Amino acid sequence: MAFNLFGKRKEAAPPPPVPDESEVEDDEVAEVLPEDDGGAEVLDAEWRDRALAVLPGGTSTGSKQPAALYGPSGVGPSHYVRASGCHLVTAGDQTLIDCTMALGSVAIGYGDEAVTRAVIAALAAGQVAGLAHVTEVEVAERLCAVIPCAEQVRFLKTGGEAMSAAIRLARVSTGRDRIVACGYFGWQDWSSEGAGVPAAVSRLVTRVPFNDIAALEAAVSAAGRELAAVVIEPVIERYPDHAWLERARALCDAAGAVLVFDEMKTGFRVALGGYQSVAGVTPDLAVFGKAMANGFPVAAVVGRSAVMEAAGRTWITSTTAGETGALAAVHAVLDRYQSEDDGDPCEVLARVGGRIRESVAAAITASGVEGVEVLGPDPMWFLRFEDPHVETRFLQRAAHHGVLFKRGAYNYAALAHDDEDLLLEIERVASTAFVEVAEDTA
Ligand SMILES: Cc1ncc(COP(=O)(O)O)c(C=O)c1O
Repeated sequence: MAFNLFGKRKEAAPPPPVPDESEVEDDEVAEVLPEDDGGAEVLDAEWRDRALAVLPGGTSTGSKQPAALYGPSGVGPSHYVRASGCHLVTAGDQTLIDCTMALGSVAIGYGDEAVTRAVIAALAAGQVAGLAHVTEVEVAERLCAVIPCAEQVRFLKTGGEAMSAAIRLARVSTGRDRIVACGYFGWQDWSSEGAGVPAAVSRLVTRVPFNDIAALEAAVSAAGRELAAVVIEPVIERYPDHAWLERARALCDAAGAVLVFDEMKTGFRVALGGYQSVAGVTPDLAVFGKAMANGFPVAAVVGRSAVMEAAGRTWITSTTAGETGALAAVHAVLDRYQSEDDGDPCEVLARVGGRIRESVAAAITASGVEGVEVLGPDPMWFLRFEDPHVETRFLQRAAHHGVLFKRGAYNYAALAHDDEDLLLEIERVASTAFVEVAEDTA
């Protein structure tokens, strides 16, 4: 094994087989192939090609597909072999500082020792059996203690699945079908606009813009007595006016509808108990996942018992929903967040994220590159480029110099970024990459 359990390197990983160069030397690769990358791009390209042959798009997570990472050319490191803290080692044996943190699913750091030990102990004790494990009860109790709306919990594996469960609960408890929604909730039919979703399903959902009280009122009014739920992602690119959330609460109360907050990104990041604990607006249901288990697969629908009891009148279940590996990770994450010694991890995420975004903004200004800005809340910030070619160029140059930034979506801070030398290195790489982009475009 090339890494010991907690990511300290013992010996180089065996590299993937070196491909026949004639197979990978197309124009696109040659155009961006850095002259001094030690052959990393050749190895990366080998893995991209192998991946594209057996996995549609090259990977099962849409935002990690090569085209999603770097733009249509898709050229750049796309696969990794191990990760530790906020570092990952690519298939081309390059070490990158990761500013994407697995789409925000990791807020402590990759391979965190306490989390990993807890998971291993759970696996060794047999993580599934013919009965539910006591850990499921313990973790549910702990979530109910820290999340304002949580009186009961149903565990599932992914955010999309948990959001579908929340919609089902809202529909069963109200006996109605219509949904008013603002946000991204995963790939499942009720919320997706993708091909293959029956029009009859899509028609039940009205989309409203973020933070717009008038639009929310109009949509709720149009749904009338058919409204089952207002479903909101409380932070989208910026913090909301609390008046918007308060109005959503009041409208649901008046309509007899269920208010749902999707706290997949905000829970355990903006605040442990989600944005509801910041805004002081308590939804009826909420969904948590991502940072809750530091990258392990588990999501939770939580909420008022009066709505959660609808679970007994429908069928929401999964064979491995209560497996204890991921639940043990939640235990360990909660231990870390509630430890007296470490301060509030969410404050650290805001401080570190703020520091990174400020250094990237300074690099943009110093380089003179135009048409790009740094936006978003500190713990989940993003770059917006006017020209996608400039964006691709920047991302490729930054990766070449050792930092992975996210294309078209959030970069997420982690506790593992909280190191002065590392922050200076991110600053140096951002600066170098933007200067090179400026030279390219001059
Ligand atoms: C707010 C929100 N809800 C739901 C989801 C879907 O979660 P998953 O990808 O685990 O299905 C995501 C994923 O990014 C999300 O950000």
